[in-house]
Amino acid sequence: MFDRLVLFCLCCCCLVGVFADSNAVKSVSVMEGDSVTLNPDLSDKPPDNLIMWNFKTNGPLIAKINQATNDISIIDDVPDGRFRDRLKLDHQTGSLTITNITTEHAGVYQVTISSKTKTVYRFNVTVYAHLPVPVIISDSPQNSSSYCSLVCSVVNVCHVTLSWYKGNSLLSSISVSDLSNSLSLRLECLDDSYSCVVSNPINNRTENVNSTDLCRPCSDCAFCCHASEALARLAVSVLVGVATVAIVVYDIITSRKGVNERRRDLLIQYKTTVHDNSNCKAI
Ligand SMILES: *[C@@H]1O[C@H](CO)[C@@H](O)[C@H](O)[C@H]1NC(C)=O
Ligand SMILES: *[C@@H]1O[C@H](CO)[C@@H](O)[C@H](O)[C@H]1NC(C)=O
Ligand SMILES: *[C@@H]1O[C@H](CO)[C@@H](O)[C@H](O)[C@H]1NC(C)=O
Ligand SMILES: *[C@@H]1O[C@H](CO)[C@@H](O)[C@H](O)[C@H]1NC(C)=O
Ligand SMILES: *[C@@H]1O[C@H](CO)[C@@H](O)[C@H](O)[C@H]1NC(C)=O
Repeated sequence: MFDRLVLFCLCCCCLVGVFADSNAVKSVSVMEGDSVTLNPDLSDKPPDNLIMWNFKTNGPLIAKINQATNDISIIDDVPDGRFRDRLKLDHQTGSLTITNITTEHAGVYQVTISSKTKTVYRFNVTVYAHLPVPVIISDSPQNSSSYCSLVCSVVNVCHVTLSWYKGNSLLSSISVSDLSNSLSLRLECLDDSYSCVVSNPINNRTENVNSTDLCRPCSDCAFCCHASEALARLAVSVLVGVATVAIVVYDIITSRKGVNERRRDLLIQYKTTVHDNSNCKAI
């Protein structure tokens, strides 16, 4: 019984030796419209292999190379003609080239190399669609006073990442798998270059916000806020200063006329300033 078990194990080892299935699936990423060449490693193989390419694991045979007889055959009408006029073979390297690739050519390609031994390699081909330039719109109410809302969107792409950048810093990002997606950004005002980037693992497209039609520029705001802040400070110090003087004046020369007029001047000045200030905040 034990002997048989050992024998069985030995047989298993022999089988593994003869049929080497390289379990690792090689990942290949390609842009739609590009060509991709799948290259099996023949470095430790004799130059007389029979090489068979299948689409999908154990799927239809799409190409065959007999290195011993120098025969090449491309069977590009299976499974449904999607490979028609797109396949190229190199009988020396055993490589398969798929030209003008589309998303329907994505999937696992299996190559079986047979001579004295048999080796199987797999390639997992991922085809990425061309990315559209993202579109940026403002969805804040026109002449909005408190904030500016920018919405970046892409349509008809899947499995992409949509990100907002301010200069080179990432502000926010979403990974999207839907066909139509958007990512919004809420800003006080536009003070730097903002950009929206749509990306997949091999490509990206960028759209910049450089239009102050979309948002009020911060330079306006800064000027406005700084100016009125300065005015407010000035007014407060003037008020405090003058009030002190007024009190002193009131205390010392209460009987003098004209104080009331001065006070009214002061009041008017203060009110005007406050009015300016609230205007700024409302812009
Ligand atoms: C590539 O494939 C697309 C879709 O099948 C086709 O419309 C286009 O004409 C092809 N381009 C070339 C250069 O063969
Ligand atoms: C092929 O790659 C895709 C995308 O990376 C992955 O989702 C899929 O599971 C892979 N398939 C195999 C058989 O490795
Ligand atoms: C926005 O402000 C501009 C200039 O102040 C003005 O011409 C325009 O009519 C305003 N738009 C709306 C929708 O209020
Ligand atoms: C966009 O792609 C370029 C070149 O492919 C790369 O240098 C850059 O870092 C990418 N940008 C982003 C935000 O992914
Ligand atoms: C942004 O600026 C670049 C160059 O400065 C210009 O080519 C592009 O048309 C501008 N885009 C918008 C939306 O104004």
